[in-house]
Amino acid sequence: MASPHKVTYHKGKLQAYLDRERIFPACLELDLSTECNRRCPLCPSATGGSPAQLELRFIERLLARLGGETRGLLLSGGEPTMAATFPDTLRIAREHGFVEIAVVTNGDFLSEDVVAEALCAHATTIRVSLYDWTDTPEADLRGTLHRIEHLRARIEKTKSPLQIGISALTTTENAPKFAEVGRAVASAGAHWIYFHPFCIRWEEGAPQRIDQRRVLEAIADFRNTSADGFDVFTFPDRYAEYEIRFDGYHAAHFLLVVGADGMNYLGAEVKYQRRHILAELGQRWDAYFLWHKERLDRIAAVHSDTYPALGSRHRGVLYNHVIQELLDGETTSFHDEQAGETSYLYPHIL
Ligand SMILES: C[S@@+](CC[C@H](N)C(=O)[O-])C[C@H]1O[C@@H](n2cnc3c(N)ncnc32)[C@H](O)[C@@H]1O
Ligand code: SF4
Repeated sequence: MASPHKVTYHKGKLQAYLDRERIFPACLELDLSTECNRRCPLCPSATGGSPAQLELRFIERLLARLGGETRGLLLSGGEPTMAATFPDTLRIAREHGFVEIAVVTNGDFLSEDVVAEALCAHATTIRVSLYDWTDTPEADLRGTLHRIEHLRARIEKTKSPLQIGISALTTTENAPKFAEVGRAVASAGAHWIYFHPFCIRWEEGAPQRIDQRRVLEAIADFRNTSADGFDVFTFPDRYAEYEIRFDGYHAAHFLLVVGADGMNYLGAEVKYQRRHILAELGQRWDAYFLWHKERLDRIAAVHSDTYPALGSRHRGVLYNHVIQELLDGETTSFHDEQAGETSYLYPHIL
């Protein structure tokens, strides 16, 4: 299960933050390029503007700056596996001490040698997003299933530790198909599947979930019948209705989001929304950008009452709520002996 408490795994950083000290983020979410071979109508990364891609020089500088302090790297986009910088980025991240590297992909290029080789050599996991599977999943996903089989065979052959994950967007409408799509990807060789809510209104910077009734029940039903060795995950708090409250977007100190335009954005749910730029890293590189007063002030000024993307219940929003409770002294759970010791899958990928 994913959890808003995953941020508390990073106990040292969290304690330092509560003590108002400077910290490096636990995880970097980096878009290599905004380019993509698909045109999903509700793409969260559609910029509406001109395409952008990061130069390798920039990527190396950023990874070198964070290396040794930040252990998690999540590559996204656009389609990251299409970017010319993809293989080198994975290699350089390992050289700079990133411990867990996750790649979010549409899976269309997994059969390309250069992509599969870089993944097997350096990545911890991929998360293949499935689109267009609501009618007849097996038939709709034939190409993707084939590429998953191909990659799994390569993993076995090279004894790579790479894990193949799948992500499926949920709605009340597609809930009856979860078991079918889950079984199809499991038999193609995926290690796990992750269900998360379909959102709309990305273009306004105000993403929100659409109807998710009966989704958690359908996921639980599928989990009860799924084969051993294939994991079924979700993030229950993303489906919940409890009120979220925070004064300052604390998660921006733990999860650093950098777009393919070289901008640091507040959170993944508002990427490419200009009003949520925290720092401009491309043209105005400064090794101390994390702690610039202007950046810190922008983060501190965000409040749950007026945050337009609250309705997405995205992970950053949920981490904010947990950190706010700690700041307000409303929970003591973090200070007990067990805190930070709960086992999370890929704990460095926030
Ligand atoms: C913008 S994509 C970029 C990476 C890659 N091209 C892909 O599609 O996985 C990043 C994430 O956005 C998610 N996503 C796409 N459309 C979405 C939607 N309408 N609501 C919520 N998440 C969405 C995908 O599941 C994926 O995890
Ligand atoms: S595959 Fe990913 S980046 Fe490409 S259009 Fe779809 S959601 Fe956007």
